[in-house]
Amino acid sequence: MAEKLGDGIVSLNPKPSKGFSSKLLDLLERVVVKLMHDASLPLHYLSGNFAPLKDETPPVKDLPVVHGFLPECLNGEFVRVGPNPKFDPVAGYHWFDGDGMIHGVRIKDGKATYVSRYVKTSRLKQEEFFGAAKFMKIGDLKGFFGLLMVNMQQLRTKLKVLDDSYGYGTANTALVYHHGKLLALQEADKPYVVKVLEDGDLQTLGMIDYDKRLTHSFTAHPKVDPATGEMFTFGYSHTPPYLTYRVISEDGIMLDPVPITISEPIMMHDFAITESYAIFMDLPMHFRPKEMVKEKKMIYSFDPTKKARFGVLPRYAKDELMIRWFELPNCFIFHNANAWEEEDEVVLITCRLENPDLDMVSGNVKEKLENFSNELYEMRFNMKTGSASQRKLSASAVDFPRINERYTGKDMCMEQFWTVSQRLQELSSLICMRRLRQARKCWK
Ligand SMILES: [Fe+2]
Repeated sequence: MAEKLGDGIVSLNPKPSKGFSSKLLDLLERVVVKLMHDASLPLHYLSGNFAPLKDETPPVKDLPVVHGFLPECLNGEFVRVGPNPKFDPVAGYHWFDGDGMIHGVRIKDGKATYVSRYVKTSRLKQEEFFGAAKFMKIGDLKGFFGLLMVNMQQLRTKLKVLDDSYGYGTANTALVYHHGKLLALQEADKPYVVKVLEDGDLQTLGMIDYDKRLTHSFTAHPKVDPATGEMFTFGYSHTPPYLTYRVISEDGIMLDPVPITISEPIMMHDFAITESYAIFMDLPMHFRPKEMVKEKKMIYSFDPTKKARFGVLPRYAKDELMIRWFELPNCFIFHNANAWEEEDEVVLITCRLENPDLDMVSGNVKEKLENFSNELYEMRFNMKTGSASQRKLSASAVDFPRINERYTGKDMCMEQFWTVSQRLQELSSLICMRRLRQARKCWK
């Protein structure tokens, strides 16, 4: 029985088991990997710029200030999260597979403290119990080998070697702060709640299910409206409803689910809000386990023949009846920068990608990694006429956009935002884009 800590937080107490079944399945896995996995393939995402840290770092106080000084009035903690696998993979490794590790810099009284801590997920707790990687990895989900590794995970769960009561997410993708809680997110699972202690240390409290109202996965990129304090989010699934939209009030109450109809299961990494709407992206990155086996593809495969669809829904809608769908040329999108309304139009600023190849981030491709060619685009959806248009704003490659979050969902006139020029194996560079209503040439 899951223990409730209050405020919708569930403490984690998974019960894995090391018995005979565990040893037998380990042996079976070793045979499958030996026979079917090409161990000579490089694991790009465990080396170079992506190599994981070996250990956590307890708070290190009084960091030297290299340049300038820290104002006495500055008081807070800067945190970021990313994948940092604790245990070596048994076979493949995808960029998105690692355990979430949070890095924090606590600044107070003119001094800085650094800390790094794993998010203590159910998955990590169980692998620590075994002292080895036991959960299925995205990096293994290719071809017939992928099917066997899916079955391995199912067998471990069925025979109670692994406990899936609390999901098997890694909390490795993004952080959001809402209703006094810092949440570590990954789109296949529920949020983990992390407490920032007075000395800067980070403590995982558990998962949040909003008093059992959250029963599906939760995007890593929810949006908090700076004016209302509400959080807007969604989850996508391999089973109907493939998409569920949710609103969480300023005081942390999750409202009823709004299922949204799309034709088949897809990957939907991000969405956007404006002051009146939520914008969903039905892009043709399909979940196709049969093709994975038959055509030796990744479990998600991109269909370049299908249009990109964008659904614009009044953001307090109780159902999907009011959604308007718009079509634009085929593309995929990981991240949006922002969206807002201009008269009859909803404007979306986004990092658009043509012909994405998820193998490029699967981590064990033979070739040297290529850069993605994401380009910054402005898309416009006219709510009166039903027409949609798009135009390119920048040369490739840009992604991971950040804005001043006081402007989430609002026209960014005179505001600037930042994107990362994406070089997969090298240090990234930052690009600052500034939008001026009277001088739109600056986009070009
Ligand atoms: Fe993301």
